[in-house]
Amino acid sequence: MKHLLCLSEWSSQEIMETLKLAEKLKYENKNGIRHNHLLKGKTLGLIFAKSSTRTRVSFEVGMYQLGGYSLFLSSSDIQLGRGETVSDTAKTLSRYIDGIMIRTFKHSDVVDLADCGTIPVINGLTDSQHPCQILADLQTVKEYKGKLAGLKMAYIGDGNNVANSLLIGCAKVGMNISVATPKGYECDTESVKLAQEAAKESGAAVVTTNDPHEAIKDADVVYTDTWVSMGMEAEKEQRISIFMPYQVNAELMAEAKSDAIFMHCLPAYRGYEVTADIIDGPQSVVFDEAENRLHAQKAVLVKLLG
Ligand code: CP
Ligand code: NVA
Repeated sequence: MKHLLCLSEWSSQEIMETLKLAEKLKYENKNGIRHNHLLKGKTLGLIFAKSSTRTRVSFEVGMYQLGGYSLFLSSSDIQLGRGETVSDTAKTLSRYIDGIMIRTFKHSDVVDLADCGTIPVINGLTDSQHPCQILADLQTVKEYKGKLAGLKMAYIGDGNNVANSLLIGCAKVGMNISVATPKGYECDTESVKLAQEAAKESGAAVVTTNDPHEAIKDADVVYTDTWVSMGMEAEKEQRISIFMPYQVNAELMAEAKSDAIFMHCLPAYRGYEVTADIIDGPQSVVFDEAENRLHAQKAVLVKLLG
């Protein structure tokens, strides 16, 4: 296990082991057990070509808690933003640091960074995947429901990076997943294919539909994300009118199981993809998800850099 670029590259056993370690680190940390020996002296570069609150803070704090050091490298400050190649950046950084987390646009840039460098690379979000988010989400579902396999996840909204990774992550761990998106905004075909392949092994059901009612029926978990991902701002007005029937509100939520939890990777836009009564209501677990970014990523860091 050298990189975390896409969850499809990790076996279900590796994912489950990572979740188990995340749980342990969380429990111990809350009970005053320090882990600052685990990555003592290790350094992680954090390259950001897009904004972030959770990813940046959880990786920086995570490295600190593990005894390591992190460097925030805004792509507009480093030479990458002025046209230095991904390959030269990878080779150079590999001489200084022990790992790279990168948030950027093109997924292929993250793959190139991993291929050209000699250190582990962690995908902190690309236009097509957000694996760290989904590890934290699976940890959260496990905490609330006590298991993953056999549950039903319903994702309602845009077939974006979060939806793509959720499809793959759920299929890997045996969670049934139904994704409902408007026509023309489906998950990418490659991610659907990877999820279907994983589902063959785990026995999960992978369903893609344009009907939010079909997807949410009997769901244990209801998930949505922004309709306007970073880089798509120009499409905002058009998207809002197309996506309105996919809003997670009290009426739609009532079609899930009565004990369903509501999830959102954040940042959220109340009144669009979700109404305030749902995201701020009793079924919402969004801040546990945000917290678990820290614990899940610490587990990833220990596995890749330790
Ligand atoms: N969910 C998530 O990745 O949040 P940030 O964009 O704040 O990092
Ligand atoms: N889909 C969103 C996720 C943000 C964490 C985006 O890419 O902007």
